[in-house]
Amino acid sequence: MRIVLGVGGGIAAYKSASLLRLLTEAGHNVSVIPTEASTRFVGVATWEALSGNTVSSSVFDEVEKVNHVRLGHEADLIVVAPATADLLARAAAGQANDLLTNTLLMARGPVFFAPAMHTEMWSHPATRANVATLRSRGAIVMEPAVGRLTGKDSGAGRLPDPEDIFTAAMAAAAAGLPAPADTASASLSGALAGKTVTITAGGTREPLDPVRFLGNRSSGKQGVALARAALDAGAHVRLIAAHMDVPAPDGVELTRVETALELREAVHAAAPDSDVLIMAAAVADFRPDRNSDTKIKKRDDGEDPVITLVRNPDILAEAVQHRNSARTSAGEALPLVIVGFAAETGDGTAEVLDYGRQKLARKGCELLVLNRVGVSLVFGQDVTEVTLLSPADSEASPAPTYTGTKSEIAGRIIARVSQELSAALPVR
Ligand code: CTP
Repeated sequence: MRIVLGVGGGIAAYKSASLLRLLTEAGHNVSVIPTEASTRFVGVATWEALSGNTVSSSVFDEVEKVNHVRLGHEADLIVVAPATADLLARAAAGQANDLLTNTLLMARGPVFFAPAMHTEMWSHPATRANVATLRSRGAIVMEPAVGRLTGKDSGAGRLPDPEDIFTAAMAAAAAGLPAPADTASASLSGALAGKTVTITAGGTREPLDPVRFLGNRSSGKQGVALARAALDAGAHVRLIAAHMDVPAPDGVELTRVETALELREAVHAAAPDSDVLIMAAAVADFRPDRNSDTKIKKRDDGEDPVITLVRNPDILAEAVQHRNSARTSAGEALPLVIVGFAAETGDGTAEVLDYGRQKLARKGCELLVLNRVGVSLVFGQDVTEVTLLSPADSEASPAPTYTGTKSEIAGRIIARVSQELSAALPVR
């Protein structure tokens, strides 16, 4: 399992080193997230050495890995030990003011707290209320042990023994506690029954010669996740797959393509009898003007080759135009809903949104899934953030932004597509 071990700022933090040992020796991959305060008791080096993973308390370290989202999402189990009164309060309030509380908000698996504090703090009405709130949301909060506390006092509030925490946390994971957050796809069942959804996925490859091509970094994961979500919603799914790093899911009608021109042909063939077209493929905007039949050789006596690029057709914009010109006065032409994707880079959110809106207008589609990308962001990653732009967005109903794994995002997109489809269907 992937486990996050959260460490709160109490003297009992040192006991979590034994807990970490038990977890790693049982074969689990543990990421430790100490709070800033806890590092006064046990330093980061201890956690790194014992876990074999890098350790941070801050959302501002290794920003490119999007740890504040990724760690919680990937974790099969989160164990917080010691859970101090302050940490329980922040978790109950849903605060996100450090890496650990961000991770708790992103949790998809069981969350387990082992409290440690003085008896008065544990029995204070504020802590009682916080514990009740966390338990009502499905988290497990252990009862603290009774015994000697930090000072001369003793009573309820001692951190339970690491072996007891380990056993109880493993039992919680095995029982498969309900995830605290819902997933969009849970409500999708049957939403697209009887509908045909065509999805393009992956990156096109534009050949230069028999061994070389111009390609891009698209993994095809988002398109495949969309195909799965559409299948879950009961649709007949046609997947037009350019190069992908992942296999196509079972149950789709699969067409493999290589180049933008092949993808265009497949879209032209499929779109007129599809209810929905989703253009998730990364289509090369340009292709080499010549595809040499033989391998291009380097010649010491001659000039270096120059590659001239010519523009590929915009398949998405064409599909919208074809559909619009086929529309009857009753507005009936398929696909009723066409979805584009935009991978944009920019300095600020406003700038990226602006590019997205311009692209939505240029392409004329019903929805545009706007992704903000850098070289290491989004392409091939499992966690992503998108904004769903529509021409109907307004101040009263602004474009929603979703963060999550590609399959969660896919669930959101398919849910929205099925709404748009119901709204676009002629009333009879
Ligand atoms: N697309 C397409 N045909 C192309 C290029 C892109 O159908 N020749 C589709 C993609 O599948 C995606 C959307 O258009 O759904 C946006 O692609 P993108 O490359 O981000 O936009 P461009 O139109 O190429 O604009 P620019 O390169 O100027 O950002």
